[in-house]
Amino acid sequence: MRALHKLLSISDFEREAKRRLPKAIFEYVRGGTEDEVALVGNRAVFDQLVFRARGLRNVSARSQSVTVLGQTYASPFGFAPTGVNAIVCHDCDSKLAREAAGSQLPYIISGASNVAIESLVKLAPHCWYQGYFPGDRTRIGNIADRLDAAGVKTIVVTIDTCVGANRENNQRNDFTIPFQLTSKLIGSGLMHPRWLLEVFAKTMFSTGTPRFVNMYETMGPSITENTTDGFRAGRDRLSWEDLKWLRDRWSGQLLVKGVMHPQDAELAAATGMDALIVSNHGGRQLDGAIAPLQALPDVVRSVPKTLPVLIDGGFRRGTDVLKAIALGAKLIFMGRPQLYGAAVAGTEGIAKVVDILRTEIDRDLALLGCKDLTEVTPDLLSVRGAPRLEQV
Ligand SMILES: Cc1cc2nc3c(=O)[nH]c(=O)nc-3n(C[C@H](O)[C@H](O)[C@H](O)COP(=O)(O)O)c2cc1C
Repeated sequence: MRALHKLLSISDFEREAKRRLPKAIFEYVRGGTEDEVALVGNRAVFDQLVFRARGLRNVSARSQSVTVLGQTYASPFGFAPTGVNAIVCHDCDSKLAREAAGSQLPYIISGASNVAIESLVKLAPHCWYQGYFPGDRTRIGNIADRLDAAGVKTIVVTIDTCVGANRENNQRNDFTIPFQLTSKLIGSGLMHPRWLLEVFAKTMFSTGTPRFVNMYETMGPSITENTTDGFRAGRDRLSWEDLKWLRDRWSGQLLVKGVMHPQDAELAAATGMDALIVSNHGGRQLDGAIAPLQALPDVVRSVPKTLPVLIDGGFRRGTDVLKAIALGAKLIFMGRPQLYGAAVAGTEGIAKVVDILRTEIDRDLALLGCKDLTEVTPDLLSVRGAPRLEQV
């Protein structure tokens, strides 16, 4: 492995993760859907915004900490929920939980994660849980009871996954959930002996085939099992009425993830959500979806100022994070960067990814002329383009 100190950016980690992981697994993490228009758009939108930095503002005492939903975080970014992490790195969910807690970052456990919530809460007491809920109130109620018993205080309901996405890249690489071993996958695994030993063998010998342990109230099926009702069954029936029902029943914090339309933002506010996450699932659901950063201003305008608007999708640089803060986002989540860190060097890799982003944000704050995040305001942004002639 290239020494960690030589990996300077998140894209360096992505390149290194590509070398380390079997193709099907790397592509599962990296990929989007269909023509990957949404995936590419998520990154491209950042280049449309440029900074108008201020100077000479004495930025010697800087802080990037932020308080959201009653919790103070050391940085304005955190780990988005990602499922099936066990195939990226041994005990990946626990490593993410530890790093998030140690670095005081927000962290959302995926409903498709592979380490039991009850263990993860012990590692990261302030973690949130993301649910892939079916339109079945008994099942939603049961998982809510389990979360309550485990001490989870915040539920995030993903709303952009009512049906499975068309991930053609996964099909081309023989990657399916339920996971099936094919000769192509075995061949690809054999070409990555380190992954075979450090991830596959270590996982199989310690805990066996990874399971969807947090999807429902009981231990879910293994990632290779084809369940009778299909684990996505009933998600296409979930509605705002179900969320209203859950709101009345759940006394903790409740968020929705995957809001892209201002009217859904209004509905989220009217349904009593504590916050919402602008997201297109990292370009992994509806292809051609608007980039979250482009959707952000309309969403922010549609909800009361007191309702925190959070965002994810394509964030890879400190400058990306600060652009979203300037447009009104309170927290930024990332999905792939920490998985690339985990794939490259486990705990140390995740920590290095966090360190890179944190260092970039600190430097960029200074270069923008800001001491803290409250000073990162929309007037520091401009749209890229040629100067208008009437300005001359
Ligand atoms: C490998 C992978 C697995 C994911 N699994 C989930 C999941 O279980 N639940 C969910 O709500 N979003 C899931 N997402 C979407 C992320 O939460 C997040 O919206 C997205 O990754 C943000 O984009 P980014 O990867 O460009 O940062 C997943 C994303 C990736 C890359």
